[in-house]
Parts: sequence; C-alpha cells; structure tokens
Amino acid sequence: MAILKIARMGHPVLRRKAAPVEDPGAPEIRRLVRDMLETMEDAGGTGLAAPQVHVPLRVVVFFVAGRRAELEDGLIEEGAAEDAPAAREFRHDVPLTVLVNPEIEVLTAETALGPEACLSVPGLVGQVPRATRIRYRGLGLEGETIEREAEGFHARVVQHECDHLDGILYPQRMTDLSLLAFTTEAGRFAAEQRAAMPAAPDEAEADAGTEREAEKVQGHG
Ligand code: NI
Repeated sequence: MAILKIARMGHPVLRRKAAPVEDPGAPEIRRLVRDMLETMEDAGGTGLAAPQVHVPLRVVVFFVAGRRAELEDGLIEEGAAEDAPAAREFRHDVPLTVLVNPEIEVLTAETALGPEACLSVPGLVGQVPRATRIRYRGLGLEGETIEREAEGFHARVVQHECDHLDGILYPQRMTDLSLLAFTTEAGRFAAEQRAAMPAAPDEAEADAGTEREAEKVQGHG
C-alpha cells in the first residue's frame, strides 16, 4: 500500500484519454486500486480517478455518504437530527465503489448547477452544470458488472470522476467562470454567491446548500 502523489492541473496526464483496462482482476490493477483508496482517504476525497495518480487507465473509485448527498442537494438542513425523517428517507449511502472501464448514460436533459472541487485543482471550487440523472455501468475487481442509476450528488460525483478518464477537469464543464472561486473566499461570501446564482426552480433547493458547501466540497476527486 502506498499513498500516491496526486497530479495537479497542468500535468499532461490529466489531459489525455485514459486507456481501457484489459483485465480488472490483474494483480497490478488490484494494487493500483488499493493505493488509490489509500490516497483518497489520506486526501479526504470522495472520489479519485487513476489519471489523478499518474496512471492513464480507466479506473475510478468513489463513495457517497447519504447524509452528505442530502446536504449537497439541499434536501436536509445542516444540523438536522440524524434520525430526522428527512435524513432517513431520501438517500442511502453509496458504498465505496471501484469502477473499471465505466460508461455513463445520461437519462435526462435536465442539468443542475452544483459545487465541485477536485484534488487535482486544489483550493478552488466551482459551480458546475451536470445531468441530474444518469445510469452508469462498469466492472468491479472480480469482473462483475456494476450497473446503477444515480441522481443528484451521486450522479455529479460519477460524472466528475469519469470526466477525468477523458482528460476533462471540472472547470472545462463550467458555463460561467465567474462562479469559480477560492474555497476560502467562497465560504466567506457564500450569501452573495448564492444571490448571484440563477434561480431555476429545480435548483432553488440545491442553492440552499451553498453556504455550507465551501467546507464540504473539498472531497470530490
Ligand atoms: Ni477531480
């Protein structure tokens, strides 16, 4: 096991298209995944893609805590009791997932703006439009097919990680670069930022998460 060095924006490995993995069960892939998980945990990330540790292969790891997803999506208020109905009903945790050769199918034309940060773009946070509902599939380390539908924050994390496999960082997905900020400033001026954001009906609730997001969005891989 090893904590790997994380490539930062500007490194060519983050711009190239990663190659498919031929054998997900190969020892070197298992070792890569173990190291990626250790690196993600050390960095406090929610996800990590292999190119971020200088390995241009189509492998991502991620997890989503249900409560975290609800906070990011504005479905519950921070400070709500853990056992409050809202906290129990909406989402379940997405377990730590390893996806080899993942593919995404977008299930809706609807997009929503939401905060993203990236371990390869440290110190910044941006409001990024993403499809709100997707289906994704890929292989696990035993060669099994993993197929899920995802929405909200879960869908956002998967889109962010899979973009890394095609050499895309989240700022390239932004349609309004005025919504790119230093994490520290975004936290200080969250109210103004929220007021400046377009208030589409479906995004109004998610916007409520803006004030606390600056401290919470560090985690995206
Ligand atoms: Ni990232």
